[in-house]
Amino acid sequence: MICDNKIFVGRGTDNVYLYPRMANRHGLIAGATGTGKTITLEVLAESFSQMGVPVFLADVKGDIAGLCRPGQMNENIRKRLDKFGINDFEFSRFPVRFFDVYGEGGHPVRTTISEMGPILLSRLLGLTEVQEGVLSIIFRIADDNGLLLIDLKDLRAMLNYVGEHAAEYTTSYGNVSKQSLGAIQRNLLQLEDEGGDIFFGEPALDINDWMRTDDSGKGYVNILHCVKLFQHPMLYSTFLLWMLSELFESLPELGDVEKPRMVFFFDEAHLLFKDAPKALITKVEQVVKLIRSKGVGVYFVTQNPSDIPNSVLAQLGNRIQHALRAYTPAEQKAVRAAAQSFRQNPDFSTEDVITDLAVGEALVSLLDNDGVPTMVQRCKIMCPQSSMGAINDDRRRAEIQASDLYGKYENAIDRQSAYEDIMAAKEQEQQDEQQQVENKKTTSSGTGRQKKSAIEKGLNSGMSSVTRQVSGNIVRSLTGGKTKSAKSIAQQAGTSILSTVLREVGNGIIRNLFGTMSK
Ligand SMILES: Nc1ncnc2c1ncn2[C@@H]1O[C@H](COP(=O)(O)OP(=O)(O)OP(=O)(O)O)[C@@H](O)[C@H]1O
Ligand SMILES: [Mg+2]
Repeated sequence: MICDNKIFVGRGTDNVYLYPRMANRHGLIAGATGTGKTITLEVLAESFSQMGVPVFLADVKGDIAGLCRPGQMNENIRKRLDKFGINDFEFSRFPVRFFDVYGEGGHPVRTTISEMGPILLSRLLGLTEVQEGVLSIIFRIADDNGLLLIDLKDLRAMLNYVGEHAAEYTTSYGNVSKQSLGAIQRNLLQLEDEGGDIFFGEPALDINDWMRTDDSGKGYVNILHCVKLFQHPMLYSTFLLWMLSELFESLPELGDVEKPRMVFFFDEAHLLFKDAPKALITKVEQVVKLIRSKGVGVYFVTQNPSDIPNSVLAQLGNRIQHALRAYTPAEQKAVRAAAQSFRQNPDFSTEDVITDLAVGEALVSLLDNDGVPTMVQRCKIMCPQSSMGAINDDRRRAEIQASDLYGKYENAIDRQSAYEDIMAAKEQEQQDEQQQVENKKTTSSGTGRQKKSAIEKGLNSGMSSVTRQVSGNIVRSLTGGKTKSAKSIAQQAGTSILSTVLREVGNGIIRNLFGTMSK
């Protein structure tokens, strides 16, 4: 709920507010299971929406979908409102849009292999550092040849092709070992078995679709329905990280803002960092640091703050800590660490209170108007205006069909990409070889050279002239930063092919940001 242009979070000895201009200084919502994290998230998401700030959140249990329906009075809510002294409370629904990578509980969300880039894909595939190096080379070869890696079929074709020509590519790109290629292929199969192929395809998500407000000026709450996705924690966390990096890459610098341009809630955030290589954690830390000046607030939601690396934790200025349990020595240590991270309040022992908090109660320290963390307060958290809990399938379907995005992502398209181009290249190779047999006497040299150019010949025969033209620009933008000229061609032509290719140009930047670990 918004009061005097501030978000009313709850009440301890005083009212506690989150200042919109401090909301992009990121935050943490932590607490043991069942202590009120999701409701706190709902309260914040509603307030951002009310201020005209779009929100993205992952719904792991399906219990935040109730945002699309007004809530109902009950004893618990009445008591809270009495404590807060609020007598003008109104239940209300909020504009939501549902997304789901499986396309069941929302609009399908897809990305392309090219957009995800080698670092995140390696994590998804569980590759070793050496295998990741090889995958990065595959991406570079694809980029240099203007080959679009849209789905797993494209990647597999690319791996096969490079494997067959490993000797040639090793000379110019570095060692492409057959063992690594084989291991990548095997892990790809496993990813497919887990249903990971569903991510990759087109139309890919246009992140601008998240950045909208409805007709009344309320920010859309974009809900990624993750009940199924969450059964594969690595898919879940990598996909969310890709979304965050996509947001980072798409948005321009804003500097200080009066309110965030968007707020991103990363639920079950511990999965992101579980067994993550140090280099990936460093990149996440960088994204979190830099995305702030693009006006995006990132809120990590997790059971225990110790789930989050200190380097990331240090950047989360707004903290809401629900109850923690402390039965084992390890849990007691974590409680102590969580308590010490707050600016202490002389009225109580943070460490004692943390284990004593009721459901819907939390220790809260938010940044004041000058960006300084306020002294920790023991607060009852505000109740949501929308309903708490899940919605039924009929309601969900009705919401999806009423959405202005309905139809945009529903049907997958399979257009010409690396797979087709490589098939054409192979055909060209076969023709070349046949020609060589026929002209055996005259063709005495240059087999390697001819083979090397086959992919190019194949491309030329297989790709449209528009694609080729822009592909040239991809290569230049990746190596020489000539993104501008690529844009102008795209603007002239305005085809769907071009828009994807442009996303690839942006992807070059993602790849720089999530640069290979060997660097
Ligand atoms: N601020 C609140 N106002 C009113 N009721 C609340 C509030 N916070 C929590 N509750 C009540 O407590 C229940 C549990 O809260 P919630 O679902 O947010 O817990 P959680 O920490 O997200 O649990 P889990 O880790 O299992 O997802 C809610 O369904 C609601 O009934
Ligand atoms: Mg929850």
